[in-house]
Amino acid sequence: MSLKLRELSLKDEQAFMNGLKDWEGESLSWYTFDWKPGVLFSEHLDRLKKNKRGVETPKAHVPSTMLYGFVVGEIVGRVNVRHVLNEELNKRGGHIGYAVSQKHRKKGYALEMVKQSLSICKTLGIERLLVTCARANIPSWKIIESIGGELEAEVYDDIGKEIIRKYWVGL
Ligand SMILES: CC(C)(COP(=O)(O)OP(=O)(O)OC[C@H]1O[C@@H](n2cnc3c(N)ncnc32)[C@H](O)[C@@H]1OP(=O)(O)O)[C@@H](O)C(=O)NCCC(=O)NCCS
Repeated sequence: MSLKLRELSLKDEQAFMNGLKDWEGESLSWYTFDWKPGVLFSEHLDRLKKNKRGVETPKAHVPSTMLYGFVVGEIVGRVNVRHVLNEELNKRGGHIGYAVSQKHRKKGYALEMVKQSLSICKTLGIERLLVTCARANIPSWKIIESIGGELEAEVYDDIGKEIIRKYWVGL
């Protein structure tokens, strides 16, 4: 597969803006937490760099790295890596969160992105990866089980009002 998971750089502005269109009508957070209309792409990149160092982030946020999956110059999805867990992420969210835009789904891209994120997680010092997903999210838990995720528990999440599966993956 020709997918390459990596951080954004200045030359990716057009691809990033094109990718935005694939999320119209859906929550923008599946694509980006930090870009909003009016934010310059260079400012956005600065924000992402600060997020990696945990600089000027909201108090509840841990350092994180945003990675995008590119296929022939097009962004198909993203993986957000949380470098450490806090109480909230331990309950729901875990170390990684991923999404693939509607038109690119069911092609194996999410699985490939998650697989490629594992070596990056290891570089960040993560030894055991916590991955969570809603029990109802079948593609998501198939991905987690494909990378060797071991189910620790199913817990009811009061915020999302749904059952969450917690998996651990040894790196
Ligand atoms: C979950 C999500 C990332 C999957 O992306 P994707 O690129 O379609 O996933 P893949 O093509 O890699 O497929 C992964 C597995 O799920 C299966 N799958 C995909 N869509 C499915 C569906 N609608 N129903 C059942 N299984 C499905 C695939 O067959 C594959 O399983 P296999 O390896 O046994 O064949 C995507 O649907 C998405 O972005 N959803 C919204 C965000 C989200 O829920 N993120 C996860 C939060 S925990």
